[in-house]
Amino acid sequence: MLLIDLIREELGLKGTKPGCLEGECGACTVLVNGDAVNSCLFLAVNIDGKDVTTIEGLSRDNQGALLDPVQEAMIHCGGIQCGFCTPGMIMTIKSFQRHCEENQIVPDREEIKKALEGNLCRCTGYTKIIDAVESLFRNP
Ligand code: FES
Ligand code: FES
Repeated sequence: MLLIDLIREELGLKGTKPGCLEGECGACTVLVNGDAVNSCLFLAVNIDGKDVTTIEGLSRDNQGALLDPVQEAMIHCGGIQCGFCTPGMIMTIKSFQRHCEENQIVPDREEIKKALEGNLCRCTGYTKIIDAVESLFRNP
């Protein structure tokens, strides 16, 4: 069984989106031990003993009332249109934010673009999403 099927079909958590199902679009991105993975390529059996976070688990109260700073930045900067790419995009940003903080990096726009290159968005043109990521480091 693939991790995306475990999440969506067995656990009923529909925030993780099925896009290409071929590892190209990033819509299905979740965190495994804090790292972004494409759940459409990841075998569910390999999460044994690991910590998995989906978009549903990201809010600070785990109920959606207290949004994560990445979610707040995406809303504030207008990085969301249809929303299909958004859960996966946010999980990738979350992993990137952790990587930057651990390594004391303040990324520039080119580094942010590179970090997001595995997540496709058909609506926003990416500029506002990049603005949102940049704002996380300007206003931590
Ligand atoms: Fe997994 Fe597109 S649905 S990368
Ligand atoms: Fe529509 Fe990204 S907001 S695909």
